[in-house]
Parts: sequence; C-alpha cells; structure tokens
Amino acid sequence: MKFKVNSYHFKLLRDYERLSAFKEAIDDYAESCEGNKSPDGEMVAFDLGCGSGVLSYFACPHMDKVIAIELNNSSYQLAKENLKEFDKIQVFNDDILSFDFSKLNEKADLIICEMLDTALIDEEEVPVLNHAKKYLKEDGKIIPEGILNSAEAVFMNNHFIQYEDDEYSPVYIALGDSMIYSEFDFLDDIDCNFSAMVDLKIFDKKELNEIGFEEEISKERYEKFSFKDNFNIKENKLKINGIKLTSFTKLNENLICGPTPMLNPSMLVPIEEIEVSCGDSVRIKLEYVMGGGVETIKTEVLDIIHN
Ligand SMILES: C[S@@+](CC[C@H](N)C(=O)[O-])C[C@H]1O[C@@H](n2cnc3c(N)ncnc32)[C@H](O)[C@@H]1O
Repeated sequence: MKFKVNSYHFKLLRDYERLSAFKEAIDDYAESCEGNKSPDGEMVAFDLGCGSGVLSYFACPHMDKVIAIELNNSSYQLAKENLKEFDKIQVFNDDILSFDFSKLNEKADLIICEMLDTALIDEEEVPVLNHAKKYLKEDGKIIPEGILNSAEAVFMNNHFIQYEDDEYSPVYIALGDSMIYSEFDFLDDIDCNFSAMVDLKIFDKKELNEIGFEEEISKERYEKFSFKDNFNIKENKLKINGIKLTSFTKLNENLICGPTPMLNPSMLVPIEEIEVSCGDSVRIKLEYVMGGGVETIKTEVLDIIHN
C-alpha cells in the first residue's frame, strides 16, 4: 500500500523501528483477542492523532470499526485519501481535547495514540488520553500501554534544550548513570503537572576509566569543551551543566521501544553548571507540564551528596 504523505509524515513512515513496534503491538493485541471478542459484538478502535492514517491501516484488519481523529487539516485530508478504500474506517478532522466522543454512541476496545514526545512534554498524549479514555470499555486496552523516563548527568556544548535526532545531534559527554525517574501507565488518570526530585549518580573513577574517559573522549571531538579546564580527573573534579532525558515506550507488557529518530529522541536539558567530584550524587528538582511544551521545563540543583 502506498501512502500519500507530507514531509513530516514521510519521516514518521520512514522510521521503520517506530512503525514496526506499533504494528507488532497491534498484531499482539489482535492475537490476544482471538476467540475473545467484545461481548457486545463489535470491536472498535480509536486512532488518536491519526496523521497519515498508518496505524488505522494496521488496526483495520483486526477490528469491526476504526475511528481516526486528526487535528491538522492537511494531514486529515491525506488520511481520508489514504484510507478511502476501507469502509470500516471513519476519519474526523477535530481537536481530540474538545471532541465529543459521546456522539459516537460506542466505546473503544482499543485506543491507539501515538502523540508521544520525550518525557511526554511537547505533545498532548497525556491530556488527550485523560479525555478519551472515559470512552474506553472497562476491559479496554491502550497502545502504547505506558512510558518510562530516565535521566543522566551530562556536560553539553550548547546551553539550550536540544533533541538528539539524526540531523542536528548535540555534542555532550555523559557523566553518570541513567536513572529511571518516572513511570506511567496510560490507563491511570495522570496529572499533567509533573514534579520530581531526581538523584543523578556521577560516575566514579573506575567507571570513568572503563568508558575510556581521558584516553578516548578527551582526544578530538570534545576539544571544544576546554576539556582540561572542566574535567580534571586526577584532582577528582568534573563539571556538569545538563541532564539527558530518555523515554522508553511500553507498547505492551512484552514490548518496550527505546528512542528512534521520530519516537522520543533523547532530549538534552541545561541545568545550572556545577562542579562535582567523581562518585557524587546530585539531587535536582525537575518540573514540566506534560503536553505543555518544552518551555514549561524547570530545573533546580538542590544538593550535591559527596560519596
Ligand atoms: C506523532 S504524529 C503520529 C501520526 C500517526 N499516528 C503515525 O503514527 O504516523 C501525532 C499526530 O497527532 C496529531 N495531533 C496532535 N494533537 C492533536 C489533537 N489535540 N487532536 C487531534 N490530533 C492531534 C498531529 O497533528 C499529528 O498528526
């Protein structure tokens, strides 16, 4: 099947890892329903933020009806065109946040919603699901099921928020372990205002040696960091000025997908520059609004805990 797409949806379709993760989760769902169809007969899926319509297309063979909703008018036109052969799929051009699901007169067995963004900050996955899941049947499922978010301490060259995508990858040095700081199940009601204390563990000398910190990293790429001024391992001094946020999408209980270029590429967030020692822990306060955009991100260094 050939999809008509604009340049954004072309990139989304070209990201095979992202697509195959969603396809596998939809097929797994269908397999789990075999011989176990909805008691009221019809199997209904909502595809929220359907874009080009690709996920409705994946769901269609397994469902009796697919309701696809898209805010952007030109993407909606593409989805209408791409899905016109499929009588089971209805496409709406609407904002899901104000969409009146009650007019459909039926609830969903399955909600598919790929409005993901790193840590769920810049897209409306959480507010959209908070609204739509009132129209999910009691034993209904959501794809993806949830998300896990991790943070690690870094020293970064630019002091602004940057995604680690294909085109303009930021230059940074990871200086600590990646710690899971939050986990969400999309069946729960989620407060969009996120706030957490995150303890970032800085590598100790042994770990720095293992990653070849002085020999490998100091060589070429990181000269621009004034390496010698910022990292003096002999004197046990390092600087950090950022955190790297990484999200892992839990498509179902057996399928977790890490970042891909178009699905939650890791995000570098600046923090106040501080000097630490190898093996320290740094406690930061991290706040943002899920669905509120990256401008809602706030960080504050609260404490440095010496080893
Ligand atoms: C990451 S894209 C995913 C598109 C498609 N589902 C896919 O997997 O290729 C998210 C889509 O959600 C749409 N969207 C974002 N906010 C929306 C809202 N409030 N209501 C409806 N659609 C929305 C965007 O326009 C975009 O097409």
